[in-house]
Amino acid sequence: PKDVGILAIEAIFPAQYVDQEDLEKFDNVSAGKYTKGLGQAKMGFCTDREDINSLCLTVTSNLLRRYNIDKSTIGRLEVGTETILDKSKSVKTVLMQLFEEEGHTDLEGIDSKNACYGGTAALFNSLNWVESSAWDGRNALVVCGDIAVYPRGSARPTGGAGAIAMLVGPNAPLVVDRGVRSSHMQHVYDFYKPNPLSEYPTVDGHLSVKCYLSALDKCFQRYCTKAEKNLGIKQMSLDHLDAILFHSPYCKLVRKSLARLVLNDFVRLPLDTKLSKYPPLAKFAGVKLEETYTDRDVEKASIDSSEEIFAKKTAKSLRISNQNGNMYTPSLYGGLISHLTSHSASELAGTRLALFSYGSGLSSSMFSIKVAADGKPGSPLHKLVSQLAFINPMLERRTRVPPEDYTKVLSDRESDHKLAPYTPSAPIDALLPGTYYLTHVDEMHRRTYAVV
Ligand code: ACO
Repeated sequence: PKDVGILAIEAIFPAQYVDQEDLEKFDNVSAGKYTKGLGQAKMGFCTDREDINSLCLTVTSNLLRRYNIDKSTIGRLEVGTETILDKSKSVKTVLMQLFEEEGHTDLEGIDSKNACYGGTAALFNSLNWVESSAWDGRNALVVCGDIAVYPRGSARPTGGAGAIAMLVGPNAPLVVDRGVRSSHMQHVYDFYKPNPLSEYPTVDGHLSVKCYLSALDKCFQRYCTKAEKNLGIKQMSLDHLDAILFHSPYCKLVRKSLARLVLNDFVRLPLDTKLSKYPPLAKFAGVKLEETYTDRDVEKASIDSSEEIFAKKTAKSLRISNQNGNMYTPSLYGGLISHLTSHSASELAGTRLALFSYGSGLSSSMFSIKVAADGKPGSPLHKLVSQLAFINPMLERRTRVPPEDYTKVLSDRESDHKLAPYTPSAPIDALLPGTYYLTHVDEMHRRTYAVV
């Protein structure tokens, strides 16, 4: 099959959020710590009415409905998540409720887990399937979702929640480049969830940031080598990428990551080019990447060298991250949606986007998307972009909840999220039509849902 990639994309965010300025005051930290220091404005969160199953049910059924998809045309369905409600039964099997009633049960794929990387693993599996001998001519559905919550303290403002679904198949308006996917995987305890009774991770926050940046270095260097070999680009550099999108734990880290790629570009380019292209970095001509993770002078020079590139190639991809927080597995794809919704189809047509996916522990990959050349009305690209018009209104209509209430929701979750039997009590009136919500957990931990 030709031009395998993303045919359609759908998202759901929680109906309520906490404002980061409100949270700064409530947490009694210095003004600007969360808003400027982390670059975050709002953080979405779920009440006891929503869990990972309900988020994924909602986003999947919304995608099927919005695009009027005949379920018999889906041959693969898989999920990426790190929000584990059950150590055996997958979220994918829960989603089968949407298919089995009409007799569609021939669907490959299951859940992938590794911190924020599972969505990318599910996407790669689906692309591989469509490009393989196992493919039966149908499309694949990739679903990623998470509820990101932290204990009180410095990590709490980097939470978030949401789910994204993507339809994958041939002749796509967003074609995933072949032969350039590059990964870096390693054993590290930077962020992990060793306690099955708690929703909270164990985090070494500053180590996780260093791991993220060093994984970015490795993936980008490998991506460039492969792009030179397989995309026919003579000297790969940031010039060949029209947009650069990142997994976003918080927006400030993405700002630093783009600066980091400029530093990588600087290291890779021939001497004369690098000096004229990035003057603030000139005095670091012999710099070794691995020695610079805590070097504030290099960081500042890289930031100064990357203002324009950031504004042009990355800033607009941060809207959902800034407004909703870290959704974990869907975070990178929220970046993709933000990028798509802040450009017209004709601006997007023919561009190449790079995507960096990071999941602690750690697994990371960089890959790229070539956008279809035709963005005219009626084209698949134009349709994909037009169908995303609901995103910004959906963000705007959410309810702002005081930090006191947010904190209460989280402390209730701490005691209740594993209870059985359990009947949730949060109101459902704020939920959008089409949203699945939890109605009951019985004494055998079996969960039932209803739809608004
Ligand atoms: N005004 C402006 N900036 C401020 C203010 C203020 N009042 N106060 C602090 N800052 C700045 C700091 O100078 C710092 O800037 P820098 O990043 O340029 O150094 C930044 O805000 C963060 O402050 P720190 O004190 O360094 O960080 P803190 O200890 O509060 O924790 C962290 C930040 C580590 C990101 C924490 O929120 C965390 O552990 N989060 C979860 C882990 C995480 O998201 N890791 C990322 C990759 S893994 C993943 O995706 C889960």
